[in-house]
Amino acid sequence: MKPVLVSGIQPTGKLHLGNYLGALKNFVELQNSGEYDCLFFIADLHSLTETYTPKEKKEQISDLFLTYLAVGLDQKKSVLFQQSAIAEHTELSWILNTITPFGELRRMTQFKDKSENESENTNVGLFDYPVLMAADILLYNASVVPVGDDQLQHLELTRTLARKFNSKFGKIFFEPKPLLTSVPRLMSLDDPEKKMSKSRPEGCLFIDDEPNIIRKKIQRAVTDSESTIEYNPKKRPGISNLVLIYSAITDMTPKEIVLMYNGKGYADFKKDLGNKLVELFTPFQEKKKELKKLDIKKILDEGNMQAKNRAQKTYEIIKKKVGLI
Ligand code: AMP
Ligand code: TRP
Repeated sequence: MKPVLVSGIQPTGKLHLGNYLGALKNFVELQNSGEYDCLFFIADLHSLTETYTPKEKKEQISDLFLTYLAVGLDQKKSVLFQQSAIAEHTELSWILNTITPFGELRRMTQFKDKSENESENTNVGLFDYPVLMAADILLYNASVVPVGDDQLQHLELTRTLARKFNSKFGKIFFEPKPLLTSVPRLMSLDDPEKKMSKSRPEGCLFIDDEPNIIRKKIQRAVTDSESTIEYNPKKRPGISNLVLIYSAITDMTPKEIVLMYNGKGYADFKKDLGNKLVELFTPFQEKKKELKKLDIKKILDEGNMQAKNRAQKTYEIIKKKVGLI
């Protein structure tokens, strides 16, 4: 049996290059490697912890699903589903809540950041978010979880909960391991000291951006007052971030790229990088437009049914272990 791989993304609006290079691109490669039994879902329940309107939420869910399909996730190779369609996610998260120490959640960096920055919407869901994430993973008994580095702490909690559950009720869960890409933490284009994040759209390149916007954003990306192309994230974070992007989308190493641009300046380098990103995202954007005609509800319903079947089986075992049945 192949190891189970689970991951999800929240439908909260446009995906940026960090989401793509840190997670989405990897989802497709891992799916196509044939080495894993893959499940990818839309983390819609998680996304309710942020501010939204119901109309927006509905659109964000179908937009993310279209993105999944357009980028190459394939319902014939992976189970693609919507978290909220599988009630067992929230049911298991309740059981996990009862073995989660309060102090562990209070320490979570993402909760601390979000509750400080969005203090008017510091809801309990935001606090409990990592426990639902643990349920997403353990419900399918995943052994690997591809994510960006901002999710490592949440994954560590998942491992702790798996261990705790196993020792209290008998072994059932694996302790899932993270799978990071070569770009686990892409930095902002306007400030290479900050992570590219949707909470700072001014530093984001979105995968749905039009070609001229992509080129412009790369052209304007903050570098430094030097002019050579170098890869040295500590000393020259701006240009190094761009070299890293170049490397991730061409599969050339940073060293090879630096060599290739020896004697050339920022303008040449940025122009090429902009063009390469346009080449990468134009077919994706066209595919996404085409897919809009498709009955995505039908595809999603099928995936939901497959996920439901699997979730029900594990949850039955969990309930027995806990003594509920
Ligand atoms: P989210 O939009 O928060 O659901 O994130 C989706 C995925 O993208 C998660 O696996 C994140 O860890 C990853 N991610 C988000 N921002 C970045 C970034 N700047 N660099 C690399 N990965 C990222
Ligand atoms: N918390 C993740 C994020 O913000 C999304 C997510 C929810 C997830 N449940 C998950 C990722 C389970 C991997 C596995 O990116």
